[in-house]
Amino acid sequence: MDERTMEAGFSELKKHLSNDTLLFQQETLEYYSHDETEDLRFLPQAVAKPATVEEVSTILRICNEHRIPVTPMGARTGLSGGALPVCGGVALSMERFDKILNIDTFNQQVLVEPGVITQVLQEEVQKQGLYYAPDPASRGSCFIGGNIAENSGGPRAVKYGVTKDWVLNLEVVLPNGEVIWTGANTLKNSTGYNMTQLIVGSEGTLGVVTKAVLKLIPYPKYNLLMLAPFTSAGKACEAVSAIFRAGVTPSALEFMEQDAISITSAFIGERPFDFGDTYAAHLLIEVDGQDMDGLMKECEVITEVLEGYECGEILFAESQSQKDKLWMLRRKVGEAVKTTSVYKEEDTVVPRYHLPELLAGVKEIGKEFGFRSVCYGHAGDGNLHINILRDGLSDEFWNDKLKEAITRIFLLTKKLGGTISGEHGIGWVQKEYMSLIFKDSELDLMRGIKSLFDPNDILNPSKMFPKMGKL
Ligand code: LAC
Ligand code: ZN
Repeated sequence: MDERTMEAGFSELKKHLSNDTLLFQQETLEYYSHDETEDLRFLPQAVAKPATVEEVSTILRICNEHRIPVTPMGARTGLSGGALPVCGGVALSMERFDKILNIDTFNQQVLVEPGVITQVLQEEVQKQGLYYAPDPASRGSCFIGGNIAENSGGPRAVKYGVTKDWVLNLEVVLPNGEVIWTGANTLKNSTGYNMTQLIVGSEGTLGVVTKAVLKLIPYPKYNLLMLAPFTSAGKACEAVSAIFRAGVTPSALEFMEQDAISITSAFIGERPFDFGDTYAAHLLIEVDGQDMDGLMKECEVITEVLEGYECGEILFAESQSQKDKLWMLRRKVGEAVKTTSVYKEEDTVVPRYHLPELLAGVKEIGKEFGFRSVCYGHAGDGNLHINILRDGLSDEFWNDKLKEAITRIFLLTKKLGGTISGEHGIGWVQKEYMSLIFKDSELDLMRGIKSLFDPNDILNPSKMFPKMGKL
């Protein structure tokens, strides 16, 4: 990177942006130097907080001309380092894009800016009897823009799909400053390449989303929540696909190993239920819909299925407060595990029938390499979060040998028909494993798309692809 060009670029940016839109203070740089991925930190040279699409366009145009790296950021709750400014340059925070512009109850869709917190959007549309289902664990703080960038999921994805299934149309600023719309505000669209879906999950490497049109559906009036204990974690995983095969699609089907429950109970300072210490794992299962009788019947079917897999006594949440407590426990697992040890989180996903093989394989690899893992996640999607704990492992193991173990886990995932990220993205920490999943010609196609959108490689450089750019 030519320092003089960069200097000239920053002077140009200063000419166009006010002091509170372009910031250089050390503590601001530090604040924007990390997301929720491990303990990784990279200082940007400046932080930009644009409030209009014109400002985003100006920032990108100038940075493109002067080859200044730009890292788009949402709420920085990501777990794959997608928002880490690994090349320095400008950290582009979209936090001022925080408006819900229009809830269209007639067409059941919403026009929203990317800096709106996911839960805020959910609560606003719920007031109109509408539902936006994608609900990452961090929904209380993550932004819609980040969800779009990573194609986030969450517990409800099993019935309602992930973020991509809710995005109809996007306004995007390209690296050269041009503003485009990717599609139309329709539920169907067979007009040309699907650019909307190309942007979803592109991790801020192709353009910066400034508006999104999202689909909504009628809010499901009722739900029932049950917690089922198992003495064998493998049996719990086996029960998962059996529920679907019995004809029921739950609105959430989550798996938690016992360690996940114990660690999280300690973290939140209460043990809201007697989880029984002899169990190895629990399934948290929710059904929802517009008809309570139908839901009761679904619960009966699920209970019958679970009995065939050595399930213990099932707890049915009796009140909203019990439901809230169970969901809080589930949503806090990642955060809680993080406080117990340095860790690495993998986001493996397989076709759901193969979940038991994945879990068994992970534990076997753990034994062989000598690490402890806490597993939990969206079992109904075959999506297993594997938190590998450092505990007392040596630097040498953690920095070298562990990669071998992770490679083994990922190869197993691939063999089972799965892949290395279900919902957290590739970002910075998984990119070296991309070549386990894609061959060169496949990666080259993706790189070709990247360079078509961003020929100067300024937008979120050095992410997603192994050995691209300078890092
Ligand atoms: C969860 C996040 C880590 O499911 O994806 O809790
Ligand atoms: Zn998750």
